[in-house]
Amino acid sequence: MHSDKIRKKFLSFFKERDHKIVESSSLIPEDGSVLFTTAGMQQFKPFYVKGDSPYGKRACSSQKSFRTSDIEEVGDQDHLTFFEMLGNFSFGDYFKKESIKWAREFLIDELNFDEEKLVYTYFEGNDEIPEDETAKNILLDSGIKEDRIYSLGRDENFWGPTGTEGPCGPTVEIHYVLKEEGCGPGCDPSCDCDKFIEIWNLVFNQFYMDSSGNLEPLKHQGIDTGMGLERLAMIVQKKPHVFETDLFVPLKEKINELIEGEASQRSKRIIADHVKGSVFLISEGVRPSNTDRGYILRRLLRRAMRHSKLLELPGNSLEKIAEEVFNIYDGIYLKKDDRPQVFSVIKEERGKFEKALDKGLKEFEKMVEENFLDGKKAFHLYSTYGFPLEMIKELCEERDIEFTEEGFEKAKKEHKEASRKGVEEKFGGLSEDPENEELKLHTATHLLHESLRKVLGSHVKQEGSDINPERLRFDFSHPKPMTEEEIRKVEELVNEKIEENLEKKVEEMPYDEAIEKGALTFFEKKKYPDPVKVYSFLNSEGNPFSKELCGGPHVENTGHLGRFEIKKEKSSSKGVRRIKAVLK
Ligand code: SER
Repeated sequence: MHSDKIRKKFLSFFKERDHKIVESSSLIPEDGSVLFTTAGMQQFKPFYVKGDSPYGKRACSSQKSFRTSDIEEVGDQDHLTFFEMLGNFSFGDYFKKESIKWAREFLIDELNFDEEKLVYTYFEGNDEIPEDETAKNILLDSGIKEDRIYSLGRDENFWGPTGTEGPCGPTVEIHYVLKEEGCGPGCDPSCDCDKFIEIWNLVFNQFYMDSSGNLEPLKHQGIDTGMGLERLAMIVQKKPHVFETDLFVPLKEKINELIEGEASQRSKRIIADHVKGSVFLISEGVRPSNTDRGYILRRLLRRAMRHSKLLELPGNSLEKIAEEVFNIYDGIYLKKDDRPQVFSVIKEERGKFEKALDKGLKEFEKMVEENFLDGKKAFHLYSTYGFPLEMIKELCEERDIEFTEEGFEKAKKEHKEASRKGVEEKFGGLSEDPENEELKLHTATHLLHESLRKVLGSHVKQEGSDINPERLRFDFSHPKPMTEEEIRKVEELVNEKIEENLEKKVEEMPYDEAIEKGALTFFEKKKYPDPVKVYSFLNSEGNPFSKELCGGPHVENTGHLGRFEIKKEKSSSKGVRRIKAVLK
C-alpha cells in the first residue's frame, strides 16, 4: 500500500467518525517558544484549554513535523529529522475509550495488522499522579491478553507539555513486535534492542502544567494522538526500515545512480534524510545562517555535503536528490514551482562551504596525528572552516579519536571574551558585546540603507535612524510608498548580504577623501569630525557592499545577524518614508 493511500485512509477513517480534516500547519510554528513544529497537536494547543475550536470538537490531520532531538542518530535504521505525523484530536469531547477503540480498529481492520503483533503500554503512576487504571481496564476489556500490556513510568507514558507550559497527560502507546526474541527476561517496549517499535502514541490530556511544573486538572479533557507515517509505512509495506519505504526509495535510488557502486548505508541515509529536511525547511522560508533555524538548516546541508564527499558524488548531487523530494511530495506538501528557489539556496550554501570543507578536512588530518583533538583545534575547525560542532564530533567518532566537548566550549568562550575585549579597545572603553542586539541592528541599518538605494534608486538618503534592542527604525527620502514587491526585494537583498558573511573594515581618512570614495553620509560636513571613520562591509573578494561615514560600533561580520524582516513601511513626513525592521 502506497504511503499516499495510508495517509488518505487514516484521514477518511476519522472523517467518517465526525472529525474535521485540518491541513498540516507550517513547520515554523506561531508559538515563538519552539523552533519547529514537532507534533500534530501543536496547532491545536489552545483548544485543549478552551475546550472548543474553530474546527469543532474533533479534528484529524497529517502534520509535517521536524525534530532536532535525534539529529545525531540519523543514519541508523529509523531516526529522521523530517517526518509526518498522523493524528486524531478531541477537544473536550471523546476520551480514552474511543481513542483506544478507534486506534485498534484502524490498525487491525483497516490496515490488516496481525493483532498478535501489537503490544500496549500505559502509565504506571508515581508520587504525584496515580496509575492510569482506566486505560488499563479499557485495554483488558478490549480482549487484549495481560501479557501484551505493560505499565511504564513517566518517561515513557506521560506526554507534554510542548514548550514551557500547556496540556499534558498519561498515554497509551501501541508498539509493534518486530521480532520474537528480545534481549532478555526484562525486555519491554521501552527497551531499544529492536524487538519493539513504537507506532502510535495516544495522549490523554487531563492536566495543565504551568511554567513552574505544577499540574492542575484540565476542565475539558482531550485526546491528542500521533503516529509516524514513515514507521507505519515500513510495517504496512513489510520493509526492514523506513529508508526502504516509498517515502525514501526514490532518494536512495538517485544516490545509487550517482555513486555507481556500493557505499556506506549510513552516509546514504544521512544524505537522504538531510536533503529531505532541507528541502522542507527552505520551502518554508528558512535560509542557512549562524543562528536558530538557519543554523539547523546549515548543519543539515553541511553534513549532507560531507557525506556526499565521502561517497564521491558529483558536485550538484544534492540538488538532484532534492528534485526527487519534490517528486515524492508534489501536490501533498510541496509545489514544483518552488524548485528553482530551493535548488539555488542549496547551491549557494555548497558554494560557501565546498572549499572550506576541503581545507578543513586537510587541517583535521594534520591535527589528529595523536588520536586526540584538543578543544582549541576543534574550535579552529568551527570558526575558520565553518564545521558545525556535530560534524567535528562525528569525524572524531568515525576515526575513534578522543574529543571532549568541554574543551571546545572553553575555547569558544575564550574567543568570545577576546573579541569582546577587542571591541572595547577599539571603541574607547564602550563595553559592547559582539552578540549585542543593538550592535547587530546598527550593522543591519547600513545594509538596509544601501539595499534601499539599490532597489529604489540613488535618491534615497538617510534622514534619521533609531535603534533599541528590539528593532531598528530608519527614515529615508523617497517620494511615495514602497510597493510590496520593493519591500520584499529590499528584505531579500539585506538577507543575501547577511548570508554573504561580509567583513567589517574601518578606515580613518579626511572627509573629502571619504566622499570621493563614495561613502554615504548623513549629516552635513561640518558636523563630522575630521578625519572621519568610514565603515565598509566587504565580500570575500574584498569589494564593499556598503560604505558609510559612521562612528560605529558594528559587528565584525554580517554572518551572525540572523534573518532581517521589515515589519512596517509608512510615511514619516513629506517625502520621507519610515521603515521598522527586526532581526530574527
Ligand atoms: N503529542 C504526541 C506526540 O508527539 C502525540 O501526538 O507523540
